[in-house]
Amino acid sequence: MSDVILAIDTSCDDTSAAVVRGGSQILSNVVSGQTLVHERFGGIVPELASRRHLEIIEGVVDEAMKTADMSFSSVSAVAVCRGPGLIGSLIVGTAFAKALAYIHKLPLIGVNHLEGHICSAFLKEGGPPELPFISLVVSGGHTSLYRVDNRGSYRELGRSRDDAAGEAYDKVAKMLALGFPGGPVIDRLAKTGNPRAVPFPRAYMPQTLDFSFSGLKTSVRNFIAQSTNNVPVQDICASFQAAVIDVLIKKIEWAAAQEGITTVALSGGVAANDGLRQQITRLNGIKAYCPPKPLCTDNAAMIGAAAYGQFLKGEFEDLSLNPKAYLPVG
Ligand code: KG4
Ligand code: ZN
Repeated sequence: MSDVILAIDTSCDDTSAAVVRGGSQILSNVVSGQTLVHERFGGIVPELASRRHLEIIEGVVDEAMKTADMSFSSVSAVAVCRGPGLIGSLIVGTAFAKALAYIHKLPLIGVNHLEGHICSAFLKEGGPPELPFISLVVSGGHTSLYRVDNRGSYRELGRSRDDAAGEAYDKVAKMLALGFPGGPVIDRLAKTGNPRAVPFPRAYMPQTLDFSFSGLKTSVRNFIAQSTNNVPVQDICASFQAAVIDVLIKKIEWAAAQEGITTVALSGGVAANDGLRQQITRLNGIKAYCPPKPLCTDNAAMIGAAAYGQFLKGEFEDLSLNPKAYLPVG
């Protein structure tokens, strides 16, 4: 039996399709972003996102199949992100995937977007990180820590109680009029700034592996509003980024110690952050895996990687598959 999966992700503002063999070999991974559609609003406008998915999804899937040099007769299953995410966006992807599965008589697999991010580690060249590992999913919608015992076997250790780290990046960038998405531009400016210029708060909350970033966001807002001393924007960016990274690193260390695990994999858009990538790889006693940046931000290859576990177990959906905006892992 062939083990080639066509995977689709339309959970937020990226339309993506990928062809993945054996849950680990990427034959194609096409991502069409919507930054141009949303940047003038300073954030994602859900209705515009779903309409854009509708316009381009056929072309994106077509390109993924052509790049992989694949015909539907060689595909074993269609996988699609079923949530969490923007419901209008999810409906476009799931409806399209159902149509493909129906026409080509293929099994349909519904994949949790967060499990997709976790499974980006299984796309690692040369084989996945040593199991079990700690996974930090840090994106625009989520900041969560998991213990990963295998594909399909995850236990949540902690999560953000308010804003996701990426959301804090985007909001701080908006306050500083730096454009959208905020993460990459703050990351770039932070490289030339002083991380000790402003002592922004770190919500370590040592009794838990949960996170909180809303206090930091408010602190940056107050600092900008009250600031009379022309602190350069690079210094504000570097100080904000240092506060985020300090907390992420500390929680990773605590999670690893609590579980007695020494391997850590990052995923999600904020895992593309150069400052975070540098610091995690320097941690003593921790083997860290940071996926290539295009596999950190939203992409369908990670959905294909996660779907493989369900494919092997025969966990298929019928055509009543209904996406969910809120969908916990497991
Ligand atoms: O995983 P992702 O593409 O979509 C979600 O599932 O949310 O993550 C998008 C988030 C945005 O908040 C964006 O600002 C952030 O990832 N991001 C970054 C960087 N690149 C993207 N944050 C910090 N540094 C970066 N280099
Ligand atoms: Zn994501």
